[in-house]
Amino acid sequence: MVAIDREKCIGCGLCVKDCPAGKIRVEEKKAVWKPDCILCGHCVAVCPKGAVTIPEYDMADVEEYDRETFSVRPENFLHAVKFRRSIRNFQDRKMDRETLERILQAGRYTPTAKNSQACRFIVVQDRLDELKELLWGQIPDMAERVKKTMPQYSIFFKFLYRRHRDNPQDDGLFFNTPACIMVVADNPLDGGLAAANIENMAVAEGAGVLYSGYLTRIIDACPAVKEWLGIPETPLVCCMLIGYPAVTYKRTAPRKPADIEWR
Ligand SMILES: Cc1cc2nc3c(=O)[nH]c(=O)nc-3n(C[C@H](O)[C@H](O)[C@H](O)COP(=O)(O)O)c2cc1C
Repeated sequence: MVAIDREKCIGCGLCVKDCPAGKIRVEEKKAVWKPDCILCGHCVAVCPKGAVTIPEYDMADVEEYDRETFSVRPENFLHAVKFRRSIRNFQDRKMDRETLERILQAGRYTPTAKNSQACRFIVVQDRLDELKELLWGQIPDMAERVKKTMPQYSIFFKFLYRRHRDNPQDDGLFFNTPACIMVVADNPLDGGLAAANIENMAVAEGAGVLYSGYLTRIIDACPAVKEWLGIPETPLVCCMLIGYPAVTYKRTAPRKPADIEWR
């Protein structure tokens, strides 16, 4: 529910104007909330008097607007987007729990359709060796199973498997990542957006990420791995390798011209 403190409310109606569901009205100069909204929190965020709360959420986590903290200059933001790289070469260094928790906050605060907030993040670090062993062991059977449905992938997965079997250091799936984050969501766009913010936050923390489409496909095709991850039925949106880069980039990478149509 949404709670409105009648002592603090000045009946300005800003919450009414900004409510996407039209669930608030002003009666006798006080805002009144009608049940059954998506709890998006716009009323909390817009109220000039801090009169609105959503008791089931952690209100201590709500931050007041701070001009200094908020000011990301556009040129800095675009530089960060251009400078970010996929990392396939990680330092032999674990990520500490507090840093990972801060990074995951960026996923948690990403918008979701209908404010479902239904993304789950599975972090594998302490038991990563166990996951790697299980997953590599599943690949020969899995590659056979998907021979008809995904022939190119089947060939490629067999090739990666043989290289890894002959030289365990050759790990074209996990590279030498210290940790993986799996993003699980019914709505793939929700999960993808969360993953992008997680990556940007990881970069801000001095870390880096590789989205692994191959790992995502393999995990999705291996029920034993999904079972191990505790997501037997849920769609895996993406699998991210995360750690501190062992490579330093000196400049941004070029791209094709923008494909934009103006009308
Ligand atoms: C959804 C997605 C899946 C990807 N899967 C893989 C992968 O399985 N293995 C890999 O080495 N790179 C993977 N990449 C990384 C892309 O190859 C990389 O983003 C692209 O080459 C551009 O390089 P950059 O990220 O450094 O700008 C993936 C990227 C995305 C966005």
